[in-house]
Amino acid sequence: MLHHNPFLRYMRPGTDHTNPFTGPLADAIQYDYINCHLVQERVNAHGSEILPTYECAASYLVDHLQPFLQERSVVLDLGSGTGIASRMLARVHRGKILGVEQAPAMIEVAQYKFHKSNASEFENKVKELFGGALPERLENYWQEVRAETRSAPIEFIPGDMRNCFLQVSGAYDAAIANHSLHWLRDDWPVFFHNLAAILKKGAPLVWNTASDFVDSAKFPSADYSWRYGTFMERVAEKLLQRGFSVNDWNAIRIPAKTEDEVRQIVEDNGFSCAIQEPILMPKDMRYIIGFYLPLHIAGLLVKKQEIDTIDKLSREITAELVRERSDIFADLEHRFDVNPVFVCLRK
Ligand SMILES: C[S@@+](CC[C@H](N)C(=O)[O-])C[C@H]1O[C@@H](n2cnc3c(N)ncnc32)[C@H](O)[C@@H]1O
Repeated sequence: MLHHNPFLRYMRPGTDHTNPFTGPLADAIQYDYINCHLVQERVNAHGSEILPTYECAASYLVDHLQPFLQERSVVLDLGSGTGIASRMLARVHRGKILGVEQAPAMIEVAQYKFHKSNASEFENKVKELFGGALPERLENYWQEVRAETRSAPIEFIPGDMRNCFLQVSGAYDAAIANHSLHWLRDDWPVFFHNLAAILKKGAPLVWNTASDFVDSAKFPSADYSWRYGTFMERVAEKLLQRGFSVNDWNAIRIPAKTEDEVRQIVEDNGFSCAIQEPILMPKDMRYIIGFYLPLHIAGLLVKKQEIDTIDKLSREITAELVRERSDIFADLEHRFDVNPVFVCLRK
C-alpha cells in the first residue's frame, strides 16, 4: 500500500513541496484507496454520516458555500483532484461545476467517477495495474460515487490554478478548494489576485487547509496535532536507539503561517476574508498507526530509507511501545488534524 502513497513524497524533508500529487495513475488510484479507508464521522443537524476523510472535510466547505448558491451558479472546484469536493457539491448543487486540476492522472480518475470516460477501459487499466483485481472497498466506493454522479453537470479542466484562468475565462459565481490551496502558498498573492479577476463581485471562495500549513488560533497545532503527541516522541526515541539520525520530532511540519497572516494575504489581493471555526478531525490510533506513522517516520529519518524499511520500522516500533509502556496511549489531547477554514468574498 505504501509504494504508491502520494503523501510519502511531501513527508521527506528537502523534497519539492509544490505538488506531490502529479504522479502516475497508480498514485491517483492510491489517493482514492487511502481516502475510502480513512473514514470520519460527520455530525450535523440532520444526524451522522460516515464519510471518506476528504469527503468529510469537503462537506463542511459545501455547508459554508450553499447559502451563496443559486440554481444556475457556475462553481469552480480548484485543485479538484479525483473529484471529491465536486461530489459533495453535486449533492446539493444542480448547476455547473468546473474542476481545475494540474495532475492528469487525478483527472483520469475523476472522469471515471463522473462518467466522463469509457468505464470498462479505465477498469481494465486499473486491474492491470493491481494484478488483476480491484480491492473490494475501492470498487464499492467508486460504485457509490458513480451512482450519485450520473447526471452531474461537471467538467474537469487540466491546468495550473496559478495561471489557468485564461483557459477558463468568464465570470464565475463561486469557488471551492478542499485541501488544495496550500500547495500554492508561495504564490498566494498572485493566485488570489488572478482568481479575483475571474469571479463575480461578491462571489465566495470557500477553502480549507491543514494544521501542518496554517496554525489555528483556537486549536494550535502544538497542543492538538497528532504530530506533537507523546506517541510520536517515543517513536523518535526508538529510531535514535536503533542508530538512525533523526530530525527533531517536535519541529516536523510546524505550520508556516497563522490564520491572521493568511487573511491578510487574501485581503491584500482582492477579497474580504472571514476566518471560520476550524474543522477538528479526530484521528484514532488505528488511523494514526496505519496511515500517518509510516509517513511520519519517513519525515523523521534524516537519511532516506526504502519504503519497505519504513513500513517494517513502523510496525516493529509500535509493537515494542505497546508491549513496553502501559501509558503509551495516555496522551488524549494530541489526536487531531485541525483544518483552518476561510470564507472569502470577492471585493
Ligand atoms: C490533497 S489533493 C485534494 C483534491 C481534492 N480537492 C479533494 O478534495 O480530494 C490536492 C490537489 O490539488 C492539486 N493541485 C496542487 N497544486 C495545483 C495547481 N497549482 N494547480 C492545479 N491543481 C493543483 C493536486 O494535483 C491535487 O489533486
